[in-house]
Amino acid sequence: MSSPSPSYSAAIDATDLLYAWPGKSPVIDIAHFSVARGERVFLRGPSGSGKSTLLGLLGGVLNPARGRVCLLGTDITALSAGERDRFRGEHLGFIFQMFNLIPYLSVLENVLLPAQFSPARASRIPGGDLAAEGRRLLAALGLGSTDFLDRPVTELSIGQQQRVAAARALLGRPGIIVADEPTSSLDYDSREDFLRLLMNECKTQESALLFVSHDTSLGPLFDRNLSLREINRA
Ligand SMILES: Nc1ncnc2c1ncn2[C@@H]1O[C@H](COP(=O)(O)OP(=O)(O)O)[C@@H](O)[C@H]1O
Ligand SMILES: [Mg+2]
Repeated sequence: MSSPSPSYSAAIDATDLLYAWPGKSPVIDIAHFSVARGERVFLRGPSGSGKSTLLGLLGGVLNPARGRVCLLGTDITALSAGERDRFRGEHLGFIFQMFNLIPYLSVLENVLLPAQFSPARASRIPGGDLAAEGRRLLAALGLGSTDFLDRPVTELSIGQQQRVAAARALLGRPGIIVADEPTSSLDYDSREDFLRLLMNECKTQESALLFVSHDTSLGPLFDRNLSLREINRA
């Protein structure tokens, strides 16, 4: 039920999407928003404008008051909560501002986590060699040195931790990567480095990337730039 239809469809396709936090006026009211498969989109908007709320809706973590979200051809708004969780585990990779790494796990164990939660995602790993794929992704994100792998993540710098979080999101080739202000804690040079590596790997894996940030300086690196205000009537 959670497998996407084999026909061509967008990575993300949201229609008539309305959301209000309890007791507040709507923060999201979007007629239509879509991201093509493999497309890398930068969505900008000031703090408090609803970017994280929109990502919560697109990821199926929040339920819209109205509207429909189709991911890779599956209408996730028609799924049960359990089915939605499974779909998310299989097809979405999240990168958060605060990384959300598990502090008592090693670097490699953090990267391999999605495979534990989603057998379908593990099954997409070439040759089934999880550790090899974890190492490949870490190297693709600039953490190629093997002495990183078994270290606790907490011993890494902030910039290195964010690369670990990106490798984790990319594991098992999810069709969609969602990044919520992932560069806010990085300085300008590491921001651009990080972003180039992330975008290259999304291209290699053919994952769509929806990247939200209030930092407009990164926009030109993307296939498409959009302001939340352009699509939001709220
Ligand atoms: N958990 C929450 N409960 C209530 N209101 C919230 C919650 N999260 C966000 N909001 C409100 O929704 C609006 C948009 O917030 P958010 O989506 O976090 O914006 P952004 O990510 O662009 O900074 C803000 O007014 C914020 O106060
Ligand atoms: Mg936010």
